[in-house]
Amino acid sequence: MSPKPNVRTLRGRKRRDGAEPIVMVTAYDYPTAAIASAAGVDLILVGDSVANTVLGYPDTLHVTIDDMAHHVAAVARAKPECLIVGDMPWMSYHVSLEETVRNAARLIRAGAECVKLEGGAKRAPAIEALVHAEIPVMGHIGLTPQSVHAIGGMRVQGRAVDAATALLADASALVEAGCFAMVIESVPDAVGTAVTAAVDVPTIGIGAGPGCDGQVLVFHDVLGLGTGRVAKFVRPYANLAEDATKALAAFAADVRSGAFPNQSESYTSSDELRTALDPDAARPD
Ligand code: KIV
Repeated sequence: MSPKPNVRTLRGRKRRDGAEPIVMVTAYDYPTAAIASAAGVDLILVGDSVANTVLGYPDTLHVTIDDMAHHVAAVARAKPECLIVGDMPWMSYHVSLEETVRNAARLIRAGAECVKLEGGAKRAPAIEALVHAEIPVMGHIGLTPQSVHAIGGMRVQGRAVDAATALLADASALVEAGCFAMVIESVPDAVGTAVTAAVDVPTIGIGAGPGCDGQVLVFHDVLGLGTGRVAKFVRPYANLAEDATKALAAFAADVRSGAFPNQSESYTSSDELRTALDPDAARPD
């Protein structure tokens, strides 16, 4: 088994230098973290996508730093052999640098080993403040779901030349500010490749094509555990929602027919106990 990744070993993992692609998946609690770790992924992102995938909200804007710390702590209790990335929720790094550092520290104390935040060049002061406080930062550019209202929906970013050029400038600003890696979400493949070529830290794509240094997907999407439509870039490797529904329906049918539980699924009773509880059963006819 390869050693647990850390920000020092990840920072230099560029495919152009012959490195193996980085694998990141989201996880939100103890069992999903244990599964991700057993599968050998490099990083677990305790993403604010917990809002949609687990908590039933329509977007990621509804989770708070308290929610994220709760989920980070559950993931950390699984002691995964992966680097734990704590996602900074909306409004946890938008008000002041002091609040930004305090909120990131909440996630670190809950068990995250670095944090992720969304946005380009305008996030440089926040990233610098976090790095100054010894908190490693992963950037996130392209489609940034916390900006859903500002950008008018969940749309592919960087399709026009000027938008792609702005993304390249954002990527450089994140590196300059001190990010050790960055997520690129929902951009044309050529943009994913160009950003990856332009920066010296690894890029981890989600809907950014095969040219990135790594890939990330949401746990529930990979396993077919979601309830809604999945994005074009998702490849489901299982259909656990269907399997789970079938299994629960079989359980319900067995309970209703009396087939569950059977004798081997019950604790046995001594003759003495049976007689004491039901003297009629012991009396001869
Ligand atoms: O919260 C999340 O799941 C994310 C990924 C989409 C990268 O930020």
